[in-house]
Amino acid sequence: MFSNKSVAFFGATGGSTAPCLAQCLKAGYTCTALVRNAEKLTTLLETSHSVPHELISKSLTIVVGNVKDPVPVTQTLFPAILNPSDPTKGNKSVDIIVSGIGCYPIIKKGHWLPEQEDPTLCQDVISTILNSLRARPPLVKPGLAMLSTTGISKFGRDVPLLMAPLYALLHVPHLDKKVMEDMAIAAVKEERAPIGSYVLVRPSLLTNGEAKGVHKVRWDVENGGIAKKAVGYTISRADVGGFVFEKVVGPFESGRDEGMGKIILVTY
Ligand SMILES: NC(=O)c1ccc[n+]([C@@H]2O[C@H](COP(=O)([O-])OP(=O)(O)OC[C@H]3O[C@@H](n4cnc5c(N)ncnc54)[C@H](OP(=O)(O)O)[C@@H]3O)[C@@H](O)[C@H]2O)c1
Repeated sequence: MFSNKSVAFFGATGGSTAPCLAQCLKAGYTCTALVRNAEKLTTLLETSHSVPHELISKSLTIVVGNVKDPVPVTQTLFPAILNPSDPTKGNKSVDIIVSGIGCYPIIKKGHWLPEQEDPTLCQDVISTILNSLRARPPLVKPGLAMLSTTGISKFGRDVPLLMAPLYALLHVPHLDKKVMEDMAIAAVKEERAPIGSYVLVRPSLLTNGEAKGVHKVRWDVENGGIAKKAVGYTISRADVGGFVFEKVVGPFESGRDEGMGKIILVTY
């Protein structure tokens, strides 16, 4: 299959995002990924996702850097392959951006409970992405797909009652996700909007289980109330990545749905 769709990835070495990147490469999309460790990404794609080395070399531009640094973020959003005559100033951005950035809980010395390594990581990342696009307005505004979380709905509890105590402990990372979501929602309404549209994918608790296939995923759009058809306990990272590929990136059409956005819950 061949397609000229272009996709930028942030958090590409992550459990949910790597499967989406692998499927995009196999579908023939032109991809870029900003990572901290290039070898970690290529090894993961080749060994865990069976992406041929030649396909990675041909279709994936890897930018090594920090997700909070506007220079590598801009290189990832405006890859030289799309701007061959002026790689530093050309205004062709990727068609769609996928971010699955998330940070790890750590236990600090003298503390009993784990804390977020970087409590504002997600909002800092979206802020850097949006500012990079504001500074170099693209010819066609890209779409933005981000992994967020259940447990932050403004309409109330969107996780099973039994899970509520666990989610209550996740106040800090959830606040970061909420701020991140609000920034995307506000961005499409700006007068000179840096993105055309957004999709916020909120998975239930993530597992490392094998992919069951997107047909096994229950999903529902939050639209004026709790997305009741997708309130559930868990979903594997592999199926979240597969869902983002099949239901978000695949159907995405550049320039369509401008000024609009969706929040989608996914679970088994
Ligand atoms: N855990 C859950 O049950 C749960 C539930 C719902 C939603 N979520 C959210 O879903 C998303 C995906 O989760 P996941 O478990 O698939 O992700 P993950 O495997 O933890 O991967 C996180 C990704 O973020 C990258 N990252 C973290 N800090 C970074 C930094 N400072 N600079 C650059 N990259 C950085 C990691 O890169 P490295 O490889 O370099 O570390 C990795 O690629 C996350 O936003 C997570 O919070 C999680």
